[in-house]
Amino acid sequence: MSKKYYVTTPIYYVNDVPHIGHAYTTIAADALARFYRMTGHDVFFLTGTDEHGKKVEKSASDYGVQPKELADRVVVRFKELWQKLNISYSRFIRTTDKDHMRAVTHIWKIIYEKGDIYKGVYRDWYCTPCESFWTSSQLVNNKCPDCGRDVELLSEESYFFRLSRYEEPLLRFYEENPDFIKPERRRNEIISFVKQGLKDLSVSRLGLKWGIRVPGDEKHAIYVWFDALTNYLTGAGFPDHRDLFENTWPADVHIIGKDILRFHAVYWPAFLLSAGLPLPRQVYAHGWWTVEGEKMSKSRGNVVDPVIEAERFGVDKFRYFLLREVPFGLDGDYSEASLVHRVNSELSNDIGNLFSRVCGMIKKYRPAGIEISEKNELAEEAQECIREYTSRMQKLDFQGAIGEGLLGLVSRANVYIDRKKPWQMAREQDAGLDGVLAELSEALRIVAYMCYPFMPEAFNKMMEMVGFPEVTDGNPLEWGSIKWKTKIGDLTPIFPRIE
Ligand code: MSP
Repeated sequence: MSKKYYVTTPIYYVNDVPHIGHAYTTIAADALARFYRMTGHDVFFLTGTDEHGKKVEKSASDYGVQPKELADRVVVRFKELWQKLNISYSRFIRTTDKDHMRAVTHIWKIIYEKGDIYKGVYRDWYCTPCESFWTSSQLVNNKCPDCGRDVELLSEESYFFRLSRYEEPLLRFYEENPDFIKPERRRNEIISFVKQGLKDLSVSRLGLKWGIRVPGDEKHAIYVWFDALTNYLTGAGFPDHRDLFENTWPADVHIIGKDILRFHAVYWPAFLLSAGLPLPRQVYAHGWWTVEGEKMSKSRGNVVDPVIEAERFGVDKFRYFLLREVPFGLDGDYSEASLVHRVNSELSNDIGNLFSRVCGMIKKYRPAGIEISEKNELAEEAQECIREYTSRMQKLDFQGAIGEGLLGLVSRANVYIDRKKPWQMAREQDAGLDGVLAELSEALRIVAYMCYPFMPEAFNKMMEMVGFPEVTDGNPLEWGSIKWKTKIGDLTPIFPRIE
């Protein structure tokens, strides 16, 4: 059995309903999962919810419900959204799942027995919205340095993880695995953070009811981040399903937002090193969305609801815009005007027109269909676009994969049409016309498959309209690798313009 390609999203807190930030990470992970599946890999794609901890406990009490009740309700919202957005996850994990609670207790015991967890007293600050611990010197104007909100002083018995032991091993690991933290700028930030020195980390909360109990000391709940990060192991079958686990772990990439990088690039690998488990291959931190130039927040009332956007513009267009507009890793600004402009010009004009042009000509000049022949005038240029597309997808450069790969091929095909003038060839009864239409049909097929990770619904429409063969074996992104014949159906715009 070959190793699975394993991609994860963060697991989302259930204190609030999903917004565009959640949708963004999950759509990116979905595009990647679809790309790898399409190119012949066995993919495992994990997403889910983070349900324990102070933050959820507090929200539930504000709503006057039990935390599990709140979680059950919000989970439905997430699942409905993922269905709407065509998210093809393999498992939706909840930290209240039995196998997960067992995995957390199990890894805790391994680390404890190793001597890396000890009991002490925590005397510092806690930020509940971020679920993070801070020292006085880290605070900024007495507020949380990450989110700027109030922190509370804690003075309580706590279990600590010997994070300080892992300073050197982590730095060595970053050095030996230059692609572990992406993008580069984030990697440098983490390295300098670790070089400043690591203090042992509090990994339990006394008196927190809503959490997994510390084995052998029920008064304590395991720290919610220790609990949450372990979901990536649970999903892979840890600790009970050995074969599955060996075949799935380590994760190929954890896709996260930049705000939770420290947890994923410092604490998580340290826990794994201590437990003697392999480390994930990559942690990719994407940027944040502002909305019409402003920070998104409930108090500003400008939180973008992905359900509304997907309904208004269509799921594919929303997905496309998020991954195309901004280089993955940088911050971006969400504005409906930019969305409309981009999808009209790139989807309706560029891709849509190519389809209607080519299909229209085949229908008119060769109503019985075109056999895809050996002639390969466009092959070299197409292969160059396919290479660009593939290598950029592998680097999570979605913007570039679309720009250089997908739209690159579209524009070359359009230039080819203008150069060959098939209408003239038809008029002159030029025997070369079949070859030209065959080249263009193959270009459409490749374009359709390049669209698939981003816009699965449009892909289905394209399949139906042109009659592409389904590729169940191997990589469909290979020019001229399949014999097929066009079967043009009704011509409808694949991407109607948004007015
Ligand atoms: N529960 C933790 C993650 C645990 S993973 C082991 C958590 N949950 S969260 O519900 O707050 O989800 C956060 C995800 O949404 C992060 O990746 C974060 O970066 C992302 N976003 C939240 N707001 C965002 C924007 N405005 N823009 C882009 N992504 C943002 O953190």
